[in-house]
Amino acid sequence: MKKILALSLAAAMALGLAACGVGTTTAESSTPPAGETTPATGAPSAEVTNAEKPLVWFNRQPSNSTTGELDMDALSFNDNTYYVGFDANQGAELQGQMVLDYIEANIDTLDRNGDGIIGYVLAVGDIGHNDSIARTRGVRSALGTAVEVDGNVDSTPVGTNLDGTSTYVKDGSIEINGTTYTVRELASQEMKNSAGATWDAATAGNAINTWSASFGDQIDVVVSNNDGMGMAMFNAWSQANNVPTFGYDANADAVAAIANGYGGTISQHADVQAYLTLRVLRNALDGVDVDTGIGTEDDAGNVLSDDVYYYDEASRSYYALNVAVTAENYQGFLDSTVTYAPVSNQLDASAHPEKRVWLNIYNAADNFLSATYQPLLQNYDDLLNLNVEYIGGDGQTEANITNRLTNLDSYDAFAINMVKTDNAASYTYILGQ
Ligand code: BGC
Ligand code: CA
Repeated sequence: MKKILALSLAAAMALGLAACGVGTTTAESSTPPAGETTPATGAPSAEVTNAEKPLVWFNRQPSNSTTGELDMDALSFNDNTYYVGFDANQGAELQGQMVLDYIEANIDTLDRNGDGIIGYVLAVGDIGHNDSIARTRGVRSALGTAVEVDGNVDSTPVGTNLDGTSTYVKDGSIEINGTTYTVRELASQEMKNSAGATWDAATAGNAINTWSASFGDQIDVVVSNNDGMGMAMFNAWSQANNVPTFGYDANADAVAAIANGYGGTISQHADVQAYLTLRVLRNALDGVDVDTGIGTEDDAGNVLSDDVYYYDEASRSYYALNVAVTAENYQGFLDSTVTYAPVSNQLDASAHPEKRVWLNIYNAADNFLSATYQPLLQNYDDLLNLNVEYIGGDGQTEANITNRLTNLDSYDAFAINMVKTDNAASYTYILGQ
């Protein structure tokens, strides 16, 4: 519904609103005639409907959680809608390769019970989340345990598979220094708690306790779809038992744990993603090309090089590229909340006046989003002159968040992190009211 603004034509022109769509800066109308005042800094021009305001989806790409098909209605909700995430497949391949490299380099001490089987367990984040699916596939592909179904690697958790008879995986085989070893996924499970929260670290800690109590000496490697769950397993069992544990996200605690035996992690370049999340909104609000400060240097000198991200026009999606973090290079990743230097220059507040953004984190208890992503956003919001309202969800129900998607007229732009990738319409419905 378009809001009609009761302004005389003269007043509208004086305020520079006549031509003001999304993206026209109010800074252009810097000299109001006597008696007029400029709109309060950050107050959105009332004639822009909420459905027209810049919108960015991040971390969970609008898509069908069963088929992975992108939700293009959500991704092209308006002309200033984008998704920011990272390249899930490239990162998943890196994670699988990192684990395989470790096995090859440490084979002499790896097979703890000497049965010729390299047994691993896998913590799955969310069976309907494309990142989680990709990582499960990446690890299985690299270790030779993948089974294809309809041309895709099956990502179904096995439960337990001590005898190697699961049909979701197969036994892999690797030859190292002339000896052939079997690789077996002994167990895997979606780490979802009873309330429904996925990627749940506490559930992973409980799972490793259960698994290790019944077949601990068979577990040679622990792999996790993320560091939150990986560190829970490391702390609960694997550190004390010298079992290498691999995660994903390069959260600060996980990177620090590499010094104490954590096997490695993957940086999804959250420093680049958090920047992009807010930058696409800033650009739309400034009415400049979306590439400003991204592929094209902005007036403050911010620019990204194409070895850290790419843009896919068809899906209106920005993807950061991943980097493996292991014992060799972890020193440079110890603080996961520092902004990325090439895009850390403060924007000038007169040319880029303060704007208000509504932003939610789907689960305030998610290790990656709360300990890495949000602190980064909070560093960038200052640099980009954005006044961001952060809303933390419970990780379980969309309504917990959408109930707080209110007072929309006081925001200039929206940044959304859904609970489930299928649920974009719950948000766009509200924006379209
Ligand atoms: C991260 C996970 C996180 C999830 C939340 C993923 O990209 O790797 O750690 O739990 O996003 O959606
Ligand atoms: Ca073994």
